[in-house]
Formats: sequence, structure tokens, C-alpha cells
Amino acid sequence: MHDDLEQRKSQHLDLARQPEVEPDDSDALFGCVRLVHKALPELALSDIDLTTRFCGATLRAPLMIVGMTGGTERAARINRDLAQVCEEQGVAFGVGSMRIVLGDPARMSTFDVRPHRPPLLMANLGAQQLVQTPEAAQELIGKLGADGICIHLNPAQELVQTEGDRDFRGCLDAIGALAGGLSERLLVKETGCGVSPAVARELTARGVKAIDVSGAGGTSWTRVEQLRAGDDHARVLGELLSSWGIPTAAAVRSVRAAVGDSTQLLASGGVRTGLDVAKALALGADVAGLALPLFRAHDTGGIDGARAALTQLIDSLRSICLLTGARTPRGLREVPLVLLEPLQSWLRTLGGAQ
Ligand SMILES: Cc1cc2nc3c(=O)[nH]c(=O)nc-3n(C[C@H](O)[C@H](O)[C@H](O)COP(=O)(O)O)c2cc1C
Repeated sequence: MHDDLEQRKSQHLDLARQPEVEPDDSDALFGCVRLVHKALPELALSDIDLTTRFCGATLRAPLMIVGMTGGTERAARINRDLAQVCEEQGVAFGVGSMRIVLGDPARMSTFDVRPHRPPLLMANLGAQQLVQTPEAAQELIGKLGADGICIHLNPAQELVQTEGDRDFRGCLDAIGALAGGLSERLLVKETGCGVSPAVARELTARGVKAIDVSGAGGTSWTRVEQLRAGDDHARVLGELLSSWGIPTAAAVRSVRAAVGDSTQLLASGGVRTGLDVAKALALGADVAGLALPLFRAHDTGGIDGARAALTQLIDSLRSICLLTGARTPRGLREVPLVLLEPLQSWLRTLGGAQ
């Protein structure tokens, strides 16, 4: 079972190199958002303060490299290097699913990023594993020396995966039980199909205080499983669902409208540039998250490549803050927005339309 998991993790990283994992017909809809330019910003670039409080930590910029990997030696290097650049830049970092550690504690070393210490470090476990082993979440946080944990939701990926889960009952109760103890140190995340306003309301009613809406438009896990599939059933379902999900721009705006200001939101899924980050924040996110671009930057350029990619994102965000007159990330929410179709139609249905 652990060899299978290890092999799957390796295949996932190999497939993440292929352009097809971002399907052409899947779109986060950041292109439907225009931020209004301010020709008289009356700010110096040095006035822009990107400091952000998120999940109980203080970040120097509103960014997180969201959970990707662990379990193998190759993954261990990726985790350590990405954690190091997050520490250097003062942004948040999450490791990938730690399910493999539950059956094979020796694998912990492939997630452990010490001596590096990003300002916010999050463990990761699937909601179905939480149902089966509720005590695991606190254990994993402790073993990793983390601040908290991301519990991921991925029913679409599981259904396409031949060996995947088929029973998704009990997740909300298990998450609710964990939320009581962890409060803002629990981040519930999707994995590229999006959290709707209705699901966000169910989560917040159970005490969840931070959600990564992780919408469609970036890495497609149904596509990854389609490419991995050894049988026709998985291939056909994976192809059918490869652009399934709520576009990230629609998810973050509508969830913010639904849950109000007391819930912290992270927007990942197709965030690719500093401009996408600024748009995600303007739509209501507190922090923007990226997975695939940092994996690829590291894959081709090692730690220097990852460092350059993260620096570029932060520099671009700072410039866009100036050009919109936003002194802080929160100030981006006050910037006038032009929202185009089809984003407007999504928002008319989900909430948050202008
Ligand atoms: C190589 C890779 C592995 C991933 N593994 C996990 C995981 O183990 N747990 C998890 O919660 N999300 C995982 N994700 C999903 C990301 O955290 C994120 O939600 C999703 O990829 C959307 O972001 P992106 O478009 O920037 O890649 C993974 C993503 C990538 C690219």
C-alpha cells in the first residue's frame, strides 16, 4: 500500500510537468477582472506594505505555496527548498498530503522542512483520512512542528482515480470536531474544483475560520488522473471532468459575499502572476496561493528558480498595488473593478455580482 502511494506520488510529479494538466478549456476567469488604474496614486513604492495576518501568523506578503508533495526523497528536496524560499520571503508554506506517514512513520522526514521555518507552516491531510483517523491531525501537526493543518477536499479526483475513495460521508462532522480545537489553525481547502458559497457556509457553521477556495482554472486533478489511468472507465470520466469545477475568481468573490469578513479566505487554482494575485485579493481573498508554477520553477531552475518566481510575484504585486492606489493588500478590496462575462453570470448564480 505504501509502495503504491509512493509510486502514485512520483507519477503525480512527473505528470505535473506536462502542459495538459492545465486544460485549455479550463479558466480561473481572472481575465474577466479589470482593476481600474490610478494615474495619481500619491504613493511611493516603498509606501506599499504587504504585511498580512493569516491563520494566526504574520506574513510579509499575502502569499502561500500550497500543499503539493512528500513521501519520497525527491519530494523531500522540493519541500525543503520551497520552505526555504518561503522563509526567506516571509510567506506561508504547506506540505502535501501526509497520508503516507499514517502507515509508515519513517516517511515523516520527507515532509520535515527543518531547519527552515516559514512564518506559517501547514501540515496536510485528506478529509476522508480525517474521518477514519480523527486523532491524526493533531499528531501530524506535532510531528511536523507546524502551526496548523490543511484538510483537503478532492472528491472529483478520488472518483476518477481507480484506487480512489468512493465514500465521502462524515467529512463535515470530522472537520467540525477538529475546528473546535484548532480554530484559525485549521485551513480547509479544495484541490482545484472550488468551494461554493453553500459549502463555505456549512464549513463556517461548524467553526471553520479559514478556507482555500482552490477553484478551477489551474492544475486539474481529474486531468492528472485521466493521464495516469490504466483503464477506460477512469480515462473517460477523467476526460469528461477535466475542466469540472467553479472558476477561482467566481469562487472567491461569491464565497466572500456569503461568509462576510470574519472568515479568512485563500484563493488558489490558476493564480499565475502578480496581477492574478492582486485580482484574487481585490475579489475578497486575504492570501493567494500557488502550487504548479512553483513546482515547475523549482523543477527547471532548482531553488534559485523557485526564489526568482516568488520574488517576481511579490514585486509585481507591489507595483500593481501602487498603480491602483492600494497601500496594503486589504486596500485592493476598495479598488473599483470591472467584471466581465462569463464571470458576471457565475456571480449572478452564486452571489457577488455587481
Ligand atoms: C504536484 C502537485 C501536487 C499536489 N498535491 C496536493 C496534496 O497532496 N494535497 C493538497 O491539498 N493539494 C495538493 N495539490 C493541489 C494544490 O494544493 C492546489 O490546490 C491546486 O493545485 C491548485 O493550484 P495551482 O493551479 O496553482 O496548481 C497539489 C498540486 C500539485 C501541482
